[in-house]
Amino acid sequence: MKTIIRNGHIITAVDSYHADILIEDGKIQMIAQNLSVSADKDIDARGMLVLPGGIDVHTHFDMPFGGTTSSDDFLTGTQAAAFGGTTTIVDFAIQSRGHSMQEALETWLAKAEGKATIDYGFHMIISEASRERLAEMPRMVDQGVTSFKMFTAYPGVFMVDDGGIFRALQRAGEIGALIAIHAENGSVIDVLVEQALAEGHTAPKYHALTRPPEMEGEATHRVIVLAALAKVPLYIVHLSASQALDAVMAARDQGQSVYAETCPQYLFLSYDRYEEPGFDGAKYVMSPPLRTPEHQERLWRGLKTNDLQVVATDHCPFCMKDQKTLGRDNFAKIPNGAPGVETRMSLIYDGAVSQNRLSLNRFVEVTSTTPAKLFGMFPHKGTIAVGSDADLVLFDPDGSTEWGVKQAHMRVDYNPYEGRKTAGAIRMVLSRGEVIVDNGQFLGKQGRGDFIKRHRVQDL
Ligand code: URP
Ligand code: ZN
Ligand code: ZN
Repeated sequence: MKTIIRNGHIITAVDSYHADILIEDGKIQMIAQNLSVSADKDIDARGMLVLPGGIDVHTHFDMPFGGTTSSDDFLTGTQAAAFGGTTTIVDFAIQSRGHSMQEALETWLAKAEGKATIDYGFHMIISEASRERLAEMPRMVDQGVTSFKMFTAYPGVFMVDDGGIFRALQRAGEIGALIAIHAENGSVIDVLVEQALAEGHTAPKYHALTRPPEMEGEATHRVIVLAALAKVPLYIVHLSASQALDAVMAARDQGQSVYAETCPQYLFLSYDRYEEPGFDGAKYVMSPPLRTPEHQERLWRGLKTNDLQVVATDHCPFCMKDQKTLGRDNFAKIPNGAPGVETRMSLIYDGAVSQNRLSLNRFVEVTSTTPAKLFGMFPHKGTIAVGSDADLVLFDPDGSTEWGVKQAHMRVDYNPYEGRKTAGAIRMVLSRGEVIVDNGQFLGKQGRGDFIKRHRVQDL
């Protein structure tokens, strides 16, 4: 099957030019001006930006958490991702206490197989860092799971002590894997939560008030020091606070390989959302929580100066009805997480490119190219080049998009960006050369997504 995309304006992390793209067997075969080849399918992309498909390296589909399960599975979640211009996701398999990493990987492969509509990989969450458990890491890497997430948060669930994290960092260094950390001081947060509840504070806003930014800064600094001692690279997930960014910047200034992602919610939404009437603040209960607006401008600047390298979503949706309500009388029981896999590309284009904060190239870099490089998928994914997978988005810069629960495809009963308009519109999405979204219609077959056996991680 041959497809040609003609007259598009191709944007990568470094290029900007007009050309035609010939796709054969899911891969880009040729890029040239005025291609005189005939094809089975001819797509006119005049007036469109042609972008590498978005790569979201932080999703939680079908994840048991907080006494319930995230509401998108690998079918609805990957469909929503595709509608939003994302053609690759990396989700998290969970090694839970008493169970092996292999069991976790097989469980998560089974969740995705036959459902995913775009390509997917897995990080492995390590919730036990005994020597025996960590001995499983090389087997994961051999199977394409080349990154691991560990937590300094959620005591009793995922939290691992500093010795365990240090041991895993050392092991990761030996086998070419990357450790990603959820950095908040879980033990101190637990004390603050207990004290708030004892004082009768049960409303959603106390979720944020008991997870102060200083405790994200402290944990981020701590794990950076551990990674320096282990002499290995480190990746901080969902960075939200300027204190954490300061720690990352200080380490990078010393030449340490520390990388960090932030998420649209921390760039666009702020603490005041928790003050919405009634129980509505529960929509924004996630960890780390939304911060005050001064943190947002620091994050935007961090993206510009490359102190932050990735924008992912931490998509982890729970419905207000029946799920968030588990914490109606106790904020600590509200399932942590919010939807975002569909809105990421449009929000970041709008906030970055339309509002002149970042260039188009930098937009592609933080939403696709760097995630592909850091997580062992480049150059198959994350760019537009001969030999790369034809994962492409035709984006109309003159269009506009309105967001809301009615328009979106995520399986959740609210949208944090209800009523927000973003500049530009996603007109077409191709995954390995196949048109899976065409003008608001989903054409991809259920289960067509492939598991990506990721390469060992390379330091940038
Ligand atoms: O609130 C969040 N972030 N939920 C998902 C789990 C995690 O910590 O990433
Ligand atoms: Zn996390
Ligand atoms: Zn997460």
